[in-house]
Amino acid sequence: MNLCEIVERLNRNNDLTDEEFIFLIKNNNSISDDLLQKYAQKMSQKFFGKNIYLRGLIEFTNYCKNDCYYCGIRRSNKNAERYRLNSEEILSCCEMGYNLGFRTFVLQGGEDGYFTDDMICSIVYEIHSKYPDCAITLSLGERSKESYKRFFENGADRYLLRQETSSKSHYEFLHPKEMSFQNRQRCLYDLREIGYQVGCGFMVGSPNQKAEDLVKDLRFMQELKPHMIGIGPYVPHKDTPFAHYERGNLELTLKMLGIIRLMFKDALLPSTTSLGTIHPKGREMGILHGANVVMPNLSPLNVRKKYMLYDGKICTGDESAQCRIFLEKRLNRIGYKVLMSRGDHPDFTK
Ligand code: 5AD
Repeated sequence: MNLCEIVERLNRNNDLTDEEFIFLIKNNNSISDDLLQKYAQKMSQKFFGKNIYLRGLIEFTNYCKNDCYYCGIRRSNKNAERYRLNSEEILSCCEMGYNLGFRTFVLQGGEDGYFTDDMICSIVYEIHSKYPDCAITLSLGERSKESYKRFFENGADRYLLRQETSSKSHYEFLHPKEMSFQNRQRCLYDLREIGYQVGCGFMVGSPNQKAEDLVKDLRFMQELKPHMIGIGPYVPHKDTPFAHYERGNLELTLKMLGIIRLMFKDALLPSTTSLGTIHPKGREMGILHGANVVMPNLSPLNVRKKYMLYDGKICTGDESAQCRIFLEKRLNRIGYKVLMSRGDHPDFTK
């Protein structure tokens, strides 16, 4: 098999056999890597130009009932200092974000039962009423279809829930027994059916991940047809059972971004904070490999350091306004500009 030829074919007809994907994932050469990058960049520009959408991320609770072995805010981490934002605090993040130009708010949190469906509905409703021109994205884990439906009816537009891995045995390696591989995928299909713009995703280089598992992720996503795909390298957190595993590889993460861009041509692909964490220019590199979204942090400064999913997470010390300006400058330097519109998926633009 020839790497460049595989990349050419992926670019032309967007599908490969499992064996070809595995070969592409496992092997590197600088010529085929450059080719993949070039095509992924071109594809992103074909649909989105040199425009990058910004989303304002509000990390509203780091309480979590789950105990994922890789995650810094897992319930067993007694060193995590827990916090919750109340609805006024969440709304004031939105206000600040709105004044900075953000037109998408992402409410992300651990799976925190304190926030009942009623509370989430009322927070979503309030944001929606105050900022009817903004999109509301939720990212609060697994709930029932009924709950998802209520959030949607109250004004939520989008939902992010990474599948984390599409291999059952790998899922069971990353998560304790009480978590269900099936339920996670069920949630994603329910969300899609309700009418959300759905985001899924996975970590690259999570402990024990094989090339075969990554191919399963690609196949799962071909079936789900998500509107957004969030991927970033696994980064260890010192207070987790997986502290001793190596971080995910930068080049492999960029390669997966490129492959995903060629397969899911008009998808919204964030260049993630974890990518920016493992390399000072990581987020720029992500953009240059086909990503078209960045999600700066709007959380209050005093809680930023507490939402530590992994060690060394960047942007925990900057004022939101500062983050926003820095980011814009950095994107301009690589020839891109930020767009402050809602940035819906092409299927959802009226
Ligand atoms: N490294 C990288 N990403 C992580 N996440 C959780 N823990 C880590 C880690 N140690 C990701 C998960 C989750 C998202 C919010 O953050 O994929 O879905």
